[in-house]
Amino acid sequence: MDISKLDKKINPSGTMVISNKSRALKLQGKPVIGFGAGEPDFPSPKYVVDAAIKAVSDPKNHKYSPAAGLQSLREVIAKTTKDYSGFEISSDNVIVTNGGKQAILTAFFSTLDSGDEVIIPAPYWTTYPEAVKIAGGTPVFIQTEKSNNFKVTVEQLEKSKTDNTKMVVWCSPSNPTGVVYTKEEAEEIYEWIFKNDIWILSDELYEHLVYEGEKSPSPAIYDPEFKNTIIVNGVSKSYSMTGWRVGWLLGNNNVIGLGKKIQSQATSNVSNVSQLAAEAALLNGLEVTNEMKIAFNRRRLFATEKINSIPNLNVVESTGAFYLFVDVSYYCTEENGLRTSEELCDWLLENYYIAFVPGEVFGTPGFMRLSYALSDEELDSGLSRLSEAIDNLNE
Ligand SMILES: Cc1ncc(COP(=O)(O)O)c(C=O)c1O
Repeated sequence: MDISKLDKKINPSGTMVISNKSRALKLQGKPVIGFGAGEPDFPSPKYVVDAAIKAVSDPKNHKYSPAAGLQSLREVIAKTTKDYSGFEISSDNVIVTNGGKQAILTAFFSTLDSGDEVIIPAPYWTTYPEAVKIAGGTPVFIQTEKSNNFKVTVEQLEKSKTDNTKMVVWCSPSNPTGVVYTKEEAEEIYEWIFKNDIWILSDELYEHLVYEGEKSPSPAIYDPEFKNTIIVNGVSKSYSMTGWRVGWLLGNNNVIGLGKKIQSQATSNVSNVSQLAAEAALLNGLEVTNEMKIAFNRRRLFATEKINSIPNLNVVESTGAFYLFVDVSYYCTEENGLRTSEELCDWLLENYYIAFVPGEVFGTPGFMRLSYALSDEELDSGLSRLSEAIDNLNE
């Protein structure tokens, strides 16, 4: 029997492919240093763990709960959104999801019909185009320029717009570049989107991880009725809670109404224990996030300097998230036997046991992504291996 034609259209998560390759090498006893993972290296805060232990002991939490999320958590999300992100949202307009990832998929299912186009600036987080296709839409890519710090411009958006354009995906700070749009740049893009009456899906998972300058204002500040705006956020990155699987979707009544129907049929509620752990995370404020930020910032500066000192490698200036996007195009040559950044990353992993994610995964070959969410010691020794590898290529 045939399976769905979707099989030919969608790819597995590129970052997970790298994690699996690294895991396999580790199992063989190789001393792999992983720069691939998109998650903080810290354990979840103790008060989160304590809240989960309390929750798991309460039989009430052993049962189904509302598909859109526990009312108490939705209220805390609404409150902290106002405090941290600066816009009002009613708890009725919140759906708690299984991580930011499910919120993104639900957002696409709630807005797209077959043939609808979604503009995705590249480099992009690897899930966006695949999730658009799963929901029946068509991704349309804009290749942003390194010379513009990989920021999309209104001119580029204008050129890509067709009668079928339904949405623009927006992510600042960006995964994979760590680039943060300024207020003025963001406002210009939002104005264009609102003027053209299309959706903006703003992925704000990294909003609290900005090391220099201001974070980008959310489009919801300029669109208080959520006429064109959908927001995705979650606890994974800000509170080091990737494994708990709690994110959320914010939107107007129509988006949330359909989103709830989808979630009620797809998954029902997110685990009650995880929801109560996320509630504890939000109620305890951003202190733990700010502590992680100090470590991330130290590593960001260290890694940027170290990589930029390696001949012919350079880092895209990054002020947010915990990623650096490194230009490796100089070494992707026939002569080296490493024609693409994918081949270069494979070579680095197989010979030097350092795992990076090739730019191909993010729609921008010639680069590789490095996550600096690993210990200072590992960061230092992994980058020394990178330097040694490049020295060998230069010999
Ligand atoms: C930009 C971006 N959005 C969303 C997510 C999904 O986060 P979650 O782990 O909460 O599903 C990630 C995770 O890597 C991400 O990098």
